[in-house]
Amino acid sequence: MQFSIKAIAAIMAVISNITSINAEEAIAPEDSAVVKLTEATFNDFINNNPYVLAEFFAPWCGHCKRLGPEFASAADTLNESDPNIKLAQIDCTEERDLCSSFEIRGYPTMKVFKGDASAISDYPGQRDSNAIINYMRKLTLPAVQVFETAKELDEKLEKLAESFILQILPEGTESQASNETFYQIANKYSEAFTFASTSDKKFVDQYAKSSKTPAYVIFRKGEELSDASVYKGKSIDSDFELLVDFIDVESKPLFGEINGQTYQAYTSSNLPLAYYFYSTEEERSDVEPIIKKLAKKYRGEVNFVGLDAVQFGMHAQNLNMEEKFPLFVIHDLESNKKYGIDQSNDLDNNDITQFVQKFKAGKLEPIVKSEPVPESQDSSVFHLVGTEHDAIVKSGKDVFVKYYAPWCGHCKKLAPIFEELSELYTGKDVIVAEIDHTLNDVEGVTIEGYPTLVLFPADGSEPIYYDDARSLEAMADFIKEKGSLKIDAFADEEDAVVESETAVESSTVEKVEQTEEAEAHDEL
Ligand SMILES: *[C@@H]1O[C@H](CO)[C@@H](O)[C@H](O)[C@H]1NC(C)=O
Ligand SMILES: *[C@@H]1O[C@H](CO)[C@@H](O)[C@H](O)[C@H]1NC(C)=O
Repeated sequence: MQFSIKAIAAIMAVISNITSINAEEAIAPEDSAVVKLTEATFNDFINNNPYVLAEFFAPWCGHCKRLGPEFASAADTLNESDPNIKLAQIDCTEERDLCSSFEIRGYPTMKVFKGDASAISDYPGQRDSNAIINYMRKLTLPAVQVFETAKELDEKLEKLAESFILQILPEGTESQASNETFYQIANKYSEAFTFASTSDKKFVDQYAKSSKTPAYVIFRKGEELSDASVYKGKSIDSDFELLVDFIDVESKPLFGEINGQTYQAYTSSNLPLAYYFYSTEEERSDVEPIIKKLAKKYRGEVNFVGLDAVQFGMHAQNLNMEEKFPLFVIHDLESNKKYGIDQSNDLDNNDITQFVQKFKAGKLEPIVKSEPVPESQDSSVFHLVGTEHDAIVKSGKDVFVKYYAPWCGHCKKLAPIFEELSELYTGKDVIVAEIDHTLNDVEGVTIEGYPTLVLFPADGSEPIYYDDARSLEAMADFIKEKGSLKIDAFADEEDAVVESETAVESSTVEKVEQTEEAEAHDEL
């Protein structure tokens, strides 16, 4: 589970970086509002401007080239609208001392200064013009913007840059605690959302249940105001988590877009994630009404996202689907099971609703990635595949399984020892098995590195992870001790020579193991 999330996030991040190729300059053009700073000008400039976003860059760096035009465009916009916010660039190939005094380790590095060189923080946002503008503007505002009149607020709601979380506080509300809680949350999450508060009567009438209780409403960027989410739970008072959970669920758009930047937000909430892979904007807008309807119905139960198959199509493989678009697939993040609409015919959008209903009712079969079941087992190590996994590990024998990846070096080193181990159990009720985890889905096993070794006791009790030396004796001891059949691999060993040979071999192995112990599990 963790494995797949990490891998997918990495793939998405990589792809989203590669695809936006352009030949732009890292350095802002002469006529831009970006200020070029040097060692000589830096301190004065920072001290004389209340809000400065400084980009430390190198002209040759690819990410800097991509950021260049976005940075310049943000600077020009802010120069017009918010002249007290400045954007500056420092060329680290020229200003080496200055850059090293800020311990710049990678390009570009963006830092925010608030009026002096010690009031400094890292810029945490995305590297595009809108995100930069939005972040810098918010710095100049209080964590909660108070709107006195409905007119001001209506204007604001017309053009939202991100999810907007509104507290509606009727005059004379009795509980001060909920207002305090709201401000605490705003201070903590102000980077991700805009927080606002109003006591205007029009909003009170529309959203508050009574003239004494506060209301909370989330308006999402790019959506109708009538689609806003209203908090309906119990009174917030001092309960921070109540409102944070609401925000976590409801701030996501009904039909959002998943990419390197948003992936984390979707996977961290652990709800099933329903993907629509599209290749054209038309495909996406055709399906939108269907998806939005479902998303409203299953808010807080399933997240629905669009995925640009032109950029991220290969992600279909991670979801056990073919790269044939459009496609619809649900990834249950909790169980790591994948459910997709059959791809033998072209996708009919009208099938999506029923498919989601069946998913919710638990009536779908997951797609299990598996190698075919081998016709015969031609090694003493049992070659396990995804479709057979559960049946074999519950077959009433002690089953010791190695989960491996073909490219993993530690796995290759273990292979001959494992083969030998399996031979020791010929004719005994222990199965020594291996499974290529890159080709086969398995459930109920946590695989955080290769190889992972797990014993499934014959009595069906919880699997036990093996974390000891990878020597023949140690593994055999483990199977004898932890297995429910207590089978001793060496019990009726007649040939003493074999045993001593084995001992010699495995002691060399143990030495290798000890020196490499620290990295024995780091292959992913
Ligand atoms: C920045 O704004 C000022 C004041 O509006 C204007 O005079 C100046 O030309 C602008 N600079 C750039 C580079 O756009
Ligand atoms: C809500 O709490 C904030 C922060 O403590 C405070 O500044 C503000 O006056 C409060 N608003 C009301 C209406 O009580």
